[in-house]
Amino acid sequence: KSKLSTKKEKTLGLIKPDAINKMGQILDHIYRNGFMITKLKMCQLDRNEAFEMYQEHRGKSFLNDLLGYVTSGPVLAFEIVGENAIENWRKTIGPTDPAIARSEAPKSIRAQYGTDKTKNACHGSDSPASSARELEFFFPSTGGKRRNTAQLSDST
Ligand code: PPS
Repeated sequence: KSKLSTKKEKTLGLIKPDAINKMGQILDHIYRNGFMITKLKMCQLDRNEAFEMYQEHRGKSFLNDLLGYVTSGPVLAFEIVGENAIENWRKTIGPTDPAIARSEAPKSIRAQYGTDKTKNACHGSDSPASSARELEFFFPSTGGKRRNTAQLSDST
């Protein structure tokens, strides 16, 4: 079987505060799309942590609103594994604006669970570099109190 066009990848997914009460439906959606969740935790970010997480948006006009919003309640962070997971997870989430998602990708998570460009249910890393950085942010690989204590094998 050719493996030229697909590769197994990991990426970081986040259920944002507006959709935390829909986590069951969203996790079900993730599994139905063929992904595996290998790490997961609920946490409340403070402003410094949110700024670190969203550092690529430094200087953008919406950064302040984004930080205020993502620190307004708990988020669920998870590592997901699958074929071309970085790109496929972004496709599964759908366009940033849920109104556009509802017309262009009606089965996407943002179409079904998002409200507007701020309250848009989920986040997905947009590149291999940001996925590595964001996974390390939520699930540090070495030492410290925040180290995860259990991890599902991604080889099954
Ligand atoms: S960009 O500039 O193309 O990278 O921006 P975009 O992909 O559209 O959005 C990046 C993230 O910023 C959030 N966003 C906003 N938050 C608050 N207020 C406003 N107006 C706003 N516009 C965009 C958007 O939900 C994206 O969040 P993540 O978590 O990265 O998906």
